[in-house]
Amino acid sequence: QVKKIHIGAYEINSWYISPFPDEYSRHPLLYICEFCLKYMKSEYTYRRHCLKCMQRHPPGDEIYRDGNISVFEVDGRKNKIYCQNLCLIGKMFLDTKTLYYDVEPFLFYILCEYDEKGYHFAGYYSKEKRSVQGYNLSCIMILPSRQREGYGKLLIEFSYLLSKKEGVPGSPEKPLSDFGLLSYLSYWRRAIYEILLAKTGMTIDDITSTLQTDGMLQRQSGVSNYVIVVDSKRTENYVQRANEKNPRRIDPSKLRWAPFL
Ligand code: ACO
Ligand code: ZN
Repeated sequence: QVKKIHIGAYEINSWYISPFPDEYSRHPLLYICEFCLKYMKSEYTYRRHCLKCMQRHPPGDEIYRDGNISVFEVDGRKNKIYCQNLCLIGKMFLDTKTLYYDVEPFLFYILCEYDEKGYHFAGYYSKEKRSVQGYNLSCIMILPSRQREGYGKLLIEFSYLLSKKEGVPGSPEKPLSDFGLLSYLSYWRRAIYEILLAKTGMTIDDITSTLQTDGMLQRQSGVSNYVIVVDSKRTENYVQRANEKNPRRIDPSKLRWAPFL
């Protein structure tokens, strides 16, 4: 199976098996164009492709830009091949999710870093156009070469911004991976601490589980009600530290987007 990909400036080892077509999966190293996401078997073909490929950003609309960070919205129906390639790359780092070829019911949000050479792919998440369960995100993946820089949390924040615009609380599709859970707990914690129980766009379930994890949701003896116990010093300290450690934030005023109809 494919063990490694070369994409943009990086060579990245895969974590899980991804179902690339047979003739490709016999090659341990695949070359991927970071702009159109076409995958290739040989370095020669790849170099030639790079000279010819005119694409410098994902297809679809750029719906968010803040400094050198952009998010593109790509419709799985309108850009099927791009989205299938995206899912095959995503599957290399996702254990549980099974979507690769049936991309039409999904929208994809692509996170890019811009420089003079173009919009460099850093990660993405997928979202069902209509989610019966109320999921606002199906799969999220940040390229391992760009992980631990706050991009996961940034895209999670973005997914909740869209939920707020839609006026419906959303939640990620389950099960979450270990890193997915870490990232979500960290996001939920910060969001809740910042505006404790003001409108977050998050479901009550995710709010209560975060509060329970932190011992802030307690049952009063003899009463069936829960009470929220807020240690204001602790929440203030947490928010301050979290923002110092990871200053990347979504600026809602920079979104150019309307909900999918
Ligand atoms: N070890 C420990 N903590 C971690 C790790 C890790 N490997 N990765 C993230 N975290 C924590 C960070 O410390 C941070 O918390 P903090 O801000 O409180 O310190 C928080 O999680 C978010 O970190 P980011 O840097 O924003 O996350 P990153 O850009 O690395 O992306 C992601 C996180 C998307 C989960 C990434 O690890 C990934 O792509 N993993 C492979 C695919 C995957 O598992 N996706 C989630 C599946 S679940 C779903 O899709 C619904
Ligand atoms: Zn290309």
